[in-house]
Formats: sequence, structure tokens, C-alpha cells
Amino acid sequence: MTKITVSAIKADVGGYVGHSDTHPRVQDAIESHLEDHADVLENYHVTSAGDDLQLILTHRRGSDDERIHELAWNAFESGTAVAQDLGLYGAGQDLLSDAFSGNVRGLGPGAAEIEFTERPSDPIVVFAMDKTEPGAFNFPMYKVFGDPFNTAGLVIDPSMNEGFTFEVWDIEEDRRVFLDTPEDAHELLALIGAPSRYVIKRVYPREGNKNDPDEPVASVSTEKLVDVAGEYVGKDDPVAIVRSQSGLPAIGEVLEPFTFPHMVSGWMRGSHVGPMMPVSMEHSQTSRFDGPPRCIAAGFQITDGNLVGPNDLFDDVAFDRAREQASEQADYLREHGPFEPHRLPLGELEYTTLPEIMDTLSEEWEHMDSSKPVAQATPVGSVE
Ligand code: 13P
Ligand code: 13P
Ligand code: MG
Ligand code: MG
Repeated sequence: MTKITVSAIKADVGGYVGHSDTHPRVQDAIESHLEDHADVLENYHVTSAGDDLQLILTHRRGSDDERIHELAWNAFESGTAVAQDLGLYGAGQDLLSDAFSGNVRGLGPGAAEIEFTERPSDPIVVFAMDKTEPGAFNFPMYKVFGDPFNTAGLVIDPSMNEGFTFEVWDIEEDRRVFLDTPEDAHELLALIGAPSRYVIKRVYPREGNKNDPDEPVASVSTEKLVDVAGEYVGKDDPVAIVRSQSGLPAIGEVLEPFTFPHMVSGWMRGSHVGPMMPVSMEHSQTSRFDGPPRCIAAGFQITDGNLVGPNDLFDDVAFDRAREQASEQADYLREHGPFEPHRLPLGELEYTTLPEIMDTLSEEWEHMDSSKPVAQATPVGSVE
């Protein structure tokens, strides 16, 4: 049997209302498009996180397949048409090209894909985040595949004892590097601790693992919308696929990093830092200050190419404390209002509307030499 490919392809094609949620009629249109063109697929499932929709597709055509990407693009276009009729906010937001050309990468949607040999029982988790950026997966991916304090299997499962290889992309310079853990852990952390630039793209098992070292066990969408659009149009809310069990981290080990609401970029106007809150699918709506950033976890068994699921994995009271903690951190950060570090540093706001505000002061600035006394003057705009 040819290998199975799982493709998780996402786009924001219109928010209901504002940037908080998706509209059920848009999801219906996308599902019926997939139903009508399901001949290239083994199976599909459509889900949402905040204002983003994710198509989870299984097929036997490999990653980056033109027909699969075209199908996803056309499905999003049929959703966009409904979003336009309903006047949803930012209808077609992530479809940045007038027409499909070869691959959704570079056109706006994000894609995480893995081609692998299906095992007798093959559990996977598809994660989807809203109000953040692809690097938001760096922290949990490192914990899952690199940190023995998170993943007991790194210590007690002989198949995982050699560790994992991380493929890291430098999304500013368009280059990549492969780093092995545990021995390269410090270099890996030196890079991925800067998640706006260095992003974990894939993770592979190492020799000694009972799974094939050439088949990725995790994949993250890394598309950056600003690079496609040339201006801020919305955040690059990412998706990720993680394979689990039988020589790979157990489902509980894959979810465990989310008991800590780590700080990520992308809240309100893509311009603020906020805590990552793990939520059930029912609670993925981002309404408080357009957030806080959220993550859902859809669990599936892949069985003969079918998606058995989803199991809504964060729908567990054991994550209530993380949600509570995230709300407390959100309160604390919100008290800062427009001050950093709640607001992102200036370099990261380059592509937002903030520079336009700065430009309005360009004529008002007076040059001075701060090594010499600077005379007191009547402030510009003061009342005489
Ligand atoms: P607009 O209201 O001008 O769209 O900006 C706010 C926002 O939501 C940014 O995407
Ligand atoms: P999205 O990236 O989820 O569309 O949100 C944009 C935004 O500006 C929210 O405040
Ligand atoms: Mg949006
Ligand atoms: Mg979004």
C-alpha cells in the first residue's frame, strides 16, 4: 500500500464577528466542496480555531501535491464566496492571490503535511492556533521531542532513547538547519528561543527508533503572511501535525506542554504578546481583546487512510488550571495597555499601521546634541 499523507491546510476566509470566530455557513460550503471533489482524497475533516478554518485531508499523493493544494484553495474560495455574501470581516483574508498557481504556499494559506507508512494503529494530533505566529509551536515541540522532564519516553522507552532531529527554518534568510537532540539541544534552543525568526518545521526520529527516520513525526506550517502580502493583513495563525505512540511521544506527552500557557506574539492587531490558552473546540472563539491566543487539539486514529475522530483533546478538566493561569496572565499583561512588553517591540511592528502614526511626528522632531546643554524652549503645540 502506498504511504498515507496527512495535509492540514488552513486559512482565514472571513471572521464572524470581527476576528473572533468562523461562520457555520462558511464551513458548510467548504465541506460540501470537499464532498463534491473527494475522489482524490481518502478522507477529510474540517475544523476551526477562532477565525481560522483547517482542512484535514488524507490522501496518497504525497506532500506539496498540486491537485490536493488546488482542491484546498478552491474549497477556501467557495467559503470566501459565502463569507462575502454574509459580509464577514476580512472575507478572503488569507487568499492573497487572484488565482491558484501550483501550491498554496506563498499564496496565503498555511500548510503542515506528513507522508508516512501507516502503522497498525496510528494516533495523530492536529493542533490549530489562533492569534499567533508559526514560532508559537517552538516551545511545545521542543518540550514534546526534546525535554525528558516533559516526555518520560525519552528516558524509559528504548526506541526514543536516541532522541529526535529537529529541522529549523530561518524564515528571514530562507535557509534551514538540522539539529540532533540531546547533543545539539543548546544550539537548538539558541535558535528557537527567537520564535519570530527561527521556526521548527519538522521533527524526525533518529536511528534506533522503531519508526522510519526518513518519515517526519511532526510538521508545522511556517508561512508568513506579511512576506506574501508585503503588509500586515492578519497573523500567520499556524497548524501542526504530531504523530504519537509506539516509539513516539504518547498522546499525554504531546499535550503536556500546554499545561503551561507560554507567551506568544500575535494578540490584538497582531501587535501584542499574550499567553497561549489550550481550549476545547467549543471554546476557541477569540473574543477578549481579540484573544487571548488559543490552541485546539484534534486527535485522530488514522485507519486505512481514514480519519477516525476527532477527539477534542483539550476538552479535559485537567487543562482548567492552565486556562485559569492564562486568564490571570492576560489580566496582568492587559494592565500594561500600550506599553511593552505587552505591545510587541518596534522591530516587530514594522509592518503594522504604527509607522504611519510615527510619520505624523516627522516634522515635529527637533535635532539636539545631548552632550551639550539643551536650552529650555516653548514646547511645540503648547498654549501661550
Ligand atoms: P481594521 O479595523 O482597520 O481592520 O484593523 C483592526 C484589525 O482587526 C487588524 O486586523
Ligand atoms: P487574525 O490574524 O486572526 O485574522 O486576527 C487579526 C487581528 O488583527 C486581530 O486583532
Ligand atoms: Mg481574521
Ligand atoms: Mg486568525
